[in-house]
Amino acid sequence: MRKKIIVLTGAGMSQESGISTFRDADGLWEGHDVHEVASPDGWRNNPSLVLDFYNQRRRQLKVVQPNAGHLALHRLEVAYDVQIITQNVDNLHERAGSSNILHLHGELTKVRSTGNPKTVLEWHEDLNTGDQCREGFQLRPHIVWFGEDVPNYDAARRMCQQGDIFLIIGTSMQVYPAAGLIHFAPKQSQIYYVDPKPHISWELSLRPALEILEGKAGEMLPSLVDKLLNL
Ligand code: OAD
Repeated sequence: MRKKIIVLTGAGMSQESGISTFRDADGLWEGHDVHEVASPDGWRNNPSLVLDFYNQRRRQLKVVQPNAGHLALHRLEVAYDVQIITQNVDNLHERAGSSNILHLHGELTKVRSTGNPKTVLEWHEDLNTGDQCREGFQLRPHIVWFGEDVPNYDAARRMCQQGDIFLIIGTSMQVYPAAGLIHFAPKQSQIYYVDPKPHISWELSLRPALEILEGKAGEMLPSLVDKLLNL
């Protein structure tokens, strides 16, 4: 049976594609206080600002490309059963060809009804005040904001319990519950953590098989993938 690789990615994965990370810029995200643009309070206080912010992110998505790291992860599928669990809301893993991607924090290319959370629509253009679902409710970005539940967390937890090898890439491991997922990796599983400034939590420091690769995803992943394919 093919081994299962679980890949946990964060904002650093897309940094070399030109998308800013969250914590590398003094708590500002593309010039905004994260809570103004990514929280239910922000949405209540100033929905136009929030819509505009995600419209800019959606437009940016059209001009950025997957980087060497995204492309390397796709190559793993030749020999492994690969499951990506990403905190990113971009679609660069999809565009690099990866097959199994679970988005923990939502997707920029989807919107949902504020009246019926089950109504989720594909959306590639700007979203404006007045854009409504069929039932007449305002549409909002399909993003998990601070303070909201993470509906895909249980699925992600179950995936982690089945993993043989883990790749943690470009995440500061500071936002829970995503950062806690590694807790569910089987004890003896091999873990690789790729990040130019890795944050070794107490949980990670206890892992018997942890290898830290200090560097950028696009620079480190092609050779790590070669190594895994040659095992
Ligand atoms: P962070 O901004 O907290 O962390 C980004 C990580 O990427 C840092 O550890 C950097 O050192 C690393 N990094 C930077 N450039 C890199 C590169 N080229 N290659 C590899 N790593 C690189 O981002 P996340 O951990 O993803 O939540 O943040 C988690 C969540 O917090 C996000 O999903 C978002 C945010 O607020 C929501 O929007 C709900």
